[in-house]
Amino acid sequence: MARISAGVASSHVPAIGAALDNQKQTEPYWQKIFSGFDYSKQWLVDQNPDVVLLVYNDHATAFDANLVPTFAIACGDSFDPADEGWGARPVPKVVGHPVLASHIIQSVIQDDFDITMVRDLAVDHGLTVPLSLMCGQPEEWPFKVIPIAVNVVLYPPPSGRRCFQLGQALRRAVESFDEDLDVQVWGTGGMSHQLQGPRAGFINSEFDRQFLDKIVSHPADLAEMPHVDYLRFAGSEGVELIMWLIMRGALNESVALKHRFYHVPASNTAVGHLILENR
Ligand code: DHB
Ligand code: FE
Repeated sequence: MARISAGVASSHVPAIGAALDNQKQTEPYWQKIFSGFDYSKQWLVDQNPDVVLLVYNDHATAFDANLVPTFAIACGDSFDPADEGWGARPVPKVVGHPVLASHIIQSVIQDDFDITMVRDLAVDHGLTVPLSLMCGQPEEWPFKVIPIAVNVVLYPPPSGRRCFQLGQALRRAVESFDEDLDVQVWGTGGMSHQLQGPRAGFINSEFDRQFLDKIVSHPADLAEMPHVDYLRFAGSEGVELIMWLIMRGALNESVALKHRFYHVPASNTAVGHLILENR
């Protein structure tokens, strides 16, 4: 049977991708950020997962305001990096797992999650930057990726509780797939940030650190936090953090914290990163 072995959380700041693509990773500003992923890169090589369910948000790249799925799972063969205005990032295309993705769609819909199915999907920095942070610059990504897109761009996004429940449904889906596969779930986005309006540039490190604590030890309580508290304490784009709850819901109640990294600043936000193993 397939099983979920671990979860990874990471911010997805687009400037990190640009730093890597333009060979700036050794500059002091960026070096501090990349060094937080040294452990993670080796860990990922050692774990060697078959598939990553990569939970991210599309930033009005593949979906525009005309059509915004709350949750969407991509079941195509492969996904090209999106052109977000400066040309597509020079990273490998993402190879999907259509059979597992279709099984997950079947399972979660029968489990009352009326999720949107998508086949072709250009994947933006929300998905490719965490891949770069965790894998560096390989010729090909070393595992298959099933993109799971969550709306956090156009209000109303789903509740944190619903995200946590989706994680639990994803786990049931994976564990009912009749093939031996090592599957990880990654949650991306965050941490506190606001890119617009009078509070643009807002960062709340105290909130970020508490979020990093609670998502490990008290995720079900954290899942009850309403959107207005994300807005208030984490800024308007801090609501991206609800995607970490999907990753956490897919894991055991008790997990082993293998790695934690927090660094401010990275562009307009902080880089937060966790590696959790099921135990
Ligand atoms: C930034 C962060 C994001 O999550 C994003 O999607 C875009 C920009 C930033 O910090 O600049
Ligand atoms: Fe973002």
